[in-house]
Amino acid sequence: MHPAPGSGMMVVRIVLVCNLIRTMYICICNAITEREIRGAVELGCSSIGELRRDLGVASCCGKCEPDARRVMRECGRGGACSGQLAAGD
Ligand code: FES
Repeated sequence: MHPAPGSGMMVVRIVLVCNLIRTMYICICNAITEREIRGAVELGCSSIGELRRDLGVASCCGKCEPDARRVMRECGRGGACSGQLAAGD
């Protein structure tokens, strides 16, 4: 189900940073973190479609898709995310 036009803008602008576990939510609708996306890429996800299938990223309002793509780019095409996670992750 899609939210009413305009209501997703607040969701997009909200980036929750959890200092306790040092991770950032990328997909607010589905509570998917940057760490989870990096993990999925390391396991072989190589497209936004695969992230959507495996994690649910961008499957609701879709506003997280640009940030999810950014995380994937940071991981590199080969899926190597070494050095991208914060200490303790
Ligand atoms: S933030 Fe809405 S689908 Fe990801």
